[in-house]
Amino acid sequence: MGRAKKVVLAYSGGVDTSVCIPYLKHEWGVESVVTLAVDLGQGVELEAIQAKALRAGAEQSLVRDAIQTLITDYAFPAIQANALYEQRYPLSTALARPLIAKLLVEVAEEVGADAVAHGCTGKGNDQVRFDLAIAALNPKLNVLAPAREWGMSREETIAYGERYGIPMPVQKSSPYSIDLNILGRSAEAGILEDADREPPEEVYALTRPISQTPDEPAYVEIEFEQGIPVGLDGQRLSPRSLFQQLNSLAGLHGVGRIDMIENRLVGIKSREIYECPALTVLIQAHRELESLTLTRDVIHYKYGIETTYGQLVYNGLWYSPLREALDAFVQATQKSVTGEVRMRLHKGQAVCVGRRSPYSLYNPELATYGAGDQFDHKAAEGFIYVWGLPTRVWSQMHRGHGSHLGLSGD
Ligand code: ARG
Repeated sequence: MGRAKKVVLAYSGGVDTSVCIPYLKHEWGVESVVTLAVDLGQGVELEAIQAKALRAGAEQSLVRDAIQTLITDYAFPAIQANALYEQRYPLSTALARPLIAKLLVEVAEEVGADAVAHGCTGKGNDQVRFDLAIAALNPKLNVLAPAREWGMSREETIAYGERYGIPMPVQKSSPYSIDLNILGRSAEAGILEDADREPPEEVYALTRPISQTPDEPAYVEIEFEQGIPVGLDGQRLSPRSLFQQLNSLAGLHGVGRIDMIENRLVGIKSREIYECPALTVLIQAHRELESLTLTRDVIHYKYGIETTYGQLVYNGLWYSPLREALDAFVQATQKSVTGEVRMRLHKGQAVCVGRRSPYSLYNPELATYGAGDQFDHKAAEGFIYVWGLPTRVWSQMHRGHGSHLGLSGD
């Protein structure tokens, strides 16, 4: 009796997930493996992948296009929350995992599987994200993670695959571990593990090096409705075209490269190289529109929510009561985050150069130093006296300046 009868395996077409197919059947006694390849904009031929799974012994090989869902249901709420992990990583890989998990669970319920499987190793965050998301969506399903247990080296894995008709990787496979979707690209391992070494240019694929970016800046105007990006340069776009266009424009100007040492959930520090051109620009632009349309109190309180939101996504808690609660707060703040933000993209930087909104709280008559100033300057005096009172009292006590409280006459 094996660990499960029928398993739905998250399938990328790579060597590891391909080897999972015969491994599940021959080592763990699984009777039937159904593979699920999810198109998230990683730009691979899914028909070829489908055939490959069948050749490796899958009983059924399914493909789902989820690019639009990844953007609307996962990236948009994260943009509204300005979600960054450790203040820099816009979570391009992390956001995709709960979606893949959801599709795995749906397919498992459709085909009557008693388990789902993934090819993650035991050192990364992705295994946690899959396991937790699946547990949250259907706690009855077993989760199998062969690559976490098999203990085979890269060579052994390839050799195992060859015994079951899985071809060696055709091109010399990348020396890095790459994860790619429409939200961005992650690279780790290989020589990137030397934290003190500049990444070679070959690591990057979505962004140009500064030496090859145009000398002239590009301007792009991003239109938001309630915190959601809906158009570029006056043209309404589908979420997918918006990301495609902004990825290529920002990438052309070298925007969205991140080189960081991050703290993985499993306690390891790792060196990661990310390229998230569109997502980087969108979060920055979104923040600018919030500066214009939200009150000071809301903006300041939201910073804390944003940090927690980023940690929660990174730590695999997408399907959790905490995210629902944080989303309720974020959604309540986004009603007036509507308008346009003009960004200048140049030599690796995205800079906001203009913003407008029908809900703008920016009041030129209050802000101006010129004629037409409506601000009551005399009111500032009393305000500063009250605001500064605790400071005066403290100063008297600790610096010994007597009992002068700054009141006129005392
Ligand atoms: N460290 C990143 C994260 O946890 C990216 C992991 C990407 N996976 C990969 N195989 N490169 O979100």
